[in-house]
Amino acid sequence: MNPQEMYKQKLLSIPEAVSLVQSHQTIGVAMAASEPPGLLSELGQHKDRLQAVTVWVCLPLRLYDFVLKPEMAGHFFVENWFYGAPDREVHPQGRTSYIPNNLHQAAQCKLDAAKNHVDIFWGTATPPDKRGFMSLSLGLVIEKQLIEAADLVVLEINENLPWTLGDTQIHISEVDYVVENHVPLFELPSAPPAEWEQAIGGYIAELIEDGSTIQLGIGGIPNAITAFIMERRDLGVHTEMFTNGMVDLYEAGVITGRRKTLWKGKMVGAFALGTKKLYDFVNNNLVVEFQQGRVTNNPYIIGQNYKMVSVNTALQVDLCGQVCSQSIGPRHFSGTGGQLDTHRGAQLSPGGRGIIALRSTARNGTISTIVPMLTEGAEVTVPSQDVDTVVTEYGVARLKGLCIKDRMEALIKIAHPDFRAWIRDEADRLKIVPRLVVPGVEVAQPAPRAAREPDTIKLGTFCDLSGPNATIGMAALRGYSAYYEHVNRWGGVHGRKIELVVRDDGFDPERTKLAVMDLVMRDRVFAIVSPLGTPTNLAVMDYLLQHHIPVVSPHSGLSVWSAPLKRTYFALQPSYQVEGQLLAQYVLEKFKSARIAVFAIDDQFGREGSAAFLAALAKEGIEPVARLTHTAKESDPPRWVEQLAAYKPDVVLLYTYVKPAADLLRAAHAAGFAPAWLGSYVISGPDLFQLAGQEAAEGVRAASYPPGPRHHRGERLFRKMMARQAGRADEEPGTHTRIGYAAAQLVVEGLRRAGPDLSRDGFIEALESLKDWTGGLLPPISYDSTDHRGLTTLAMLRAINGRWVVERGELCLVG
Ligand code: COA
Repeated sequence: MNPQEMYKQKLLSIPEAVSLVQSHQTIGVAMAASEPPGLLSELGQHKDRLQAVTVWVCLPLRLYDFVLKPEMAGHFFVENWFYGAPDREVHPQGRTSYIPNNLHQAAQCKLDAAKNHVDIFWGTATPPDKRGFMSLSLGLVIEKQLIEAADLVVLEINENLPWTLGDTQIHISEVDYVVENHVPLFELPSAPPAEWEQAIGGYIAELIEDGSTIQLGIGGIPNAITAFIMERRDLGVHTEMFTNGMVDLYEAGVITGRRKTLWKGKMVGAFALGTKKLYDFVNNNLVVEFQQGRVTNNPYIIGQNYKMVSVNTALQVDLCGQVCSQSIGPRHFSGTGGQLDTHRGAQLSPGGRGIIALRSTARNGTISTIVPMLTEGAEVTVPSQDVDTVVTEYGVARLKGLCIKDRMEALIKIAHPDFRAWIRDEADRLKIVPRLVVPGVEVAQPAPRAAREPDTIKLGTFCDLSGPNATIGMAALRGYSAYYEHVNRWGGVHGRKIELVVRDDGFDPERTKLAVMDLVMRDRVFAIVSPLGTPTNLAVMDYLLQHHIPVVSPHSGLSVWSAPLKRTYFALQPSYQVEGQLLAQYVLEKFKSARIAVFAIDDQFGREGSAAFLAALAKEGIEPVARLTHTAKESDPPRWVEQLAAYKPDVVLLYTYVKPAADLLRAAHAAGFAPAWLGSYVISGPDLFQLAGQEAAEGVRAASYPPGPRHHRGERLFRKMMARQAGRADEEPGTHTRIGYAAAQLVVEGLRRAGPDLSRDGFIEALESLKDWTGGLLPPISYDSTDHRGLTTLAMLRAINGRWVVERGELCLVG
C-alpha cells in the first residue's frame, strides 16, 4: 500500500481516536510544544465511560478539563515529569503527582517501573512526505521511547508544525492512527530582561568564553543572558531546550558550532519552546539537530563537549550549596528536568562549568533565596556534592571544592546586602558554620582563599590620544590618572588599588566599540570612567547598558546620558542643553541688541548645544543673523570667515571642537574679522592657545566648570598634584584636566561608600546617596535614584594674554 493510502486508512476523527481509550489504561503523552491539544481537550469528554486512566505528561502547556475539573477525580490521574502552572493548581486536590527524574532517564525509569509497557502514546507530527515519513517536530525528549513501548500510537497531525531534522522521523507504518488538527502552535514569548537579569547576564557572559558550547535552561534568566554574549565567537549549542535567544545568537554569527567536539557545526537539542521565530528557524534547518533526551541530556555525552557551560536557574540555594529549583518548601513547583544532567555534564567537559543563576531575593525583595538551610520540605535538585557555580545579580560564587564555611562566605557575597548578616547569624545559631571561638575571646573568621576579593579595582576608559581631540584626551587623562595615583599612594580604596586601563580610540566610534568590548570582556573592568567624546560614547552606550557596566562622567555633555534616566550612567559635566541655555542667558545680558551668529559642528554635540542656545534666544524673540554648520571632515576656515563676515555679526557662538574653532579664529584674525567669540566648554582648555595662537584667541570667551568652594583643601591639592606632574608650579590646569580629576574624585567617593563588598549595584546606590557632595574642585553635586545629571551651573572664562581668566564665577539657569 502506498503511504498516502496508508495515511488515509489510519485517519480518525479526534473523538474516534479518544474512544479507543479504555478504563485502567495508561496514556503517555508528548511533551511541551509537541503535546496533542486536540486529543487532550477531548479526553475530559469521555469521563463518564472511563475509570482510573493514568496520563503521563511532561510540562503540559495548555489547560485541559481532564486535569483541571474536580469532577475528573477517579476518572483520570496525572503523573507528571515536570509541572506547569495548571498542575500546581490541581496538585492540592490530589489528582496529580510528580515523577522524580533526571530527564535523560525520565522515560526509561518510568518504563522500567511499568514493565516496559505503556498502553497508548499520543503525540504530534507534521503531515507525511511523499514517502510516508513524518517529523515528530518540536519534541524528542521522551517521545520515541514511549512510542517504542506503546501498544497503540496515535499522532495528531498539524501542518503548522515545523519539519525538524535529526532523529525526528517516524514512518506512517509505525503509527496506528492519525488525527488532524491544524491549530496554531503554542508560543512562549520571552520578555525583555529586567535590570537584575541584566546584571546576572553580565556576570554569566564573563564566564562564557569564545568556542564554548552552551546549554540554556528554562526560565527567565537563561533566556535573558543571550543578549550579553553577542560579542562571543564560535559558540556551540548542546542543550535540552532550543530557545528564542539561540536564534538571535545564530543570526548574529555568534553560534557557529565550528569548535564543537560533538556534532560539529550543528545546534543539538531535544525540544523547542519559544515563539514562531524559533519554530520557523528550526524548520528544515540542517544546522538544527534534534536528538532524544536520553542522548542530549546524558551527562557523559554532554561532558564530551569542549568548554561546555550549562546555565539553569533555581529557587533557593543553601549554605551547603544544595540547590532547590523545583519546589517552594514542600509545594512542588516544576521539576528537575535536565538541570542536574546538564550541571553534571558541564563539569565533566574539559574547561566546562555548571552555572545556577538566580535572583538574590524573591517575593518583592522580602525573602532571600540564599538561605542558611533550605525551607523544610524543599526538594534538592542539585546536591551539594554536585554544585559548581552560583550567580546572582551581586556576583559569582564558585562553590565547587570549597568547604561549607568557605561556601558560606562566597554565598554571602552574592546574597542581597539586606540578608547578609542574617545568613551569618543563622549559620552560627544553627551550627551550620559556627563562629570560631577561642575560650573567652571571639576570633574573626579568616577570609577564605577562594572567595577573597582581587586586590585591585579595575576601571576602564576610552579616550582620544592620537586623533582630532587628542589634546582634550591627554588633558583629561592627566587629571584623572593623577587622582587615582594619589589614592593608590594612600593605600587605595578599602585596601584595593585602582588599576586604570586606558584605550586610545583616536575619536573613531568604530575603534571605540572594539576598545570597549576589550575592556568589558578581556579586562573585565568594574566600571567605565571619564570616557571621552560624544560620537564615541554614543557608539557604545547600548552595549554598556546591556552589560550593566557603570559609566561615570562621560566626557561629553549630551543630555542623553541622564535624560531619560539610565541607572548605570552618571553625568558630571553640565549637559549641552543646559550649557546652550546658559550661554544664551549670558549673551542676552552682556551683548544687548547684538547681531548674533552661530557656527556649529553638525553632530549631536553641535546640534544639541546650538539648538538649546537658539531656543533660548527665540524665547526672547531674537533670531540669529546667521547659522553655519560644518562637518567633522570639512575644513575651510577662510571660507567660513567669509561666510560669517558677510552677516556682520557682533557675537559668534562656537559650538564646535577645539581644532575647527582654533582654525576659524586664526583665519578670522588674519582677515581682520573680530566679533566677540563665545564657545562651549569644549574649547576652554589651554590647547586653544597652542592651536589658534595667543593673539587670535585673545578675548575669546568660553564656558567652563565653576570652581569649588573657596580655599578648599581639594583645590590646593589638585594644583599641587598637577604641578608635580607637569614639573612646573605655575602650570595652570585647564577645564578638561579639572573635570577628569573631579570625575576621579567622584568615582573614588562612590567606591568608598559602596564598602568592601564591592558590587556594581552597590556602587550605583553609593553614588545615588551623594547629597551636596564636593571633592573641593567643583561646586556640590547630588544624585538620587531619579536624577543622574550632575552639574547644572557653569562659569564663564575669558582668554587674556594666553590664559583663561574667570570672568563670571557661576552662571545658573533662571526661570
Ligand atoms: N521562595 C518562595 N518563592 C519563590 C522563591 C523562593 N525562594 N524563588 C522564587 N519564588 C517564586 C517567585 O516569586 C515566582 O512567584 P510568582 O510567580 O508568584 O511571581 C515563582 O516562584 C517563580 O519564580 P521565577 O523565578 O519567576 O521562575 P522561572 O519561570 O524563572 O523558573 C525555575 C525558575 C527554577 C522554577 C525553573 O527554571 C525550573 O523549573 N528549573 C528546574 C528545571 C531546569 O532548570 N531544567 C533545565 C533544563 S531545561
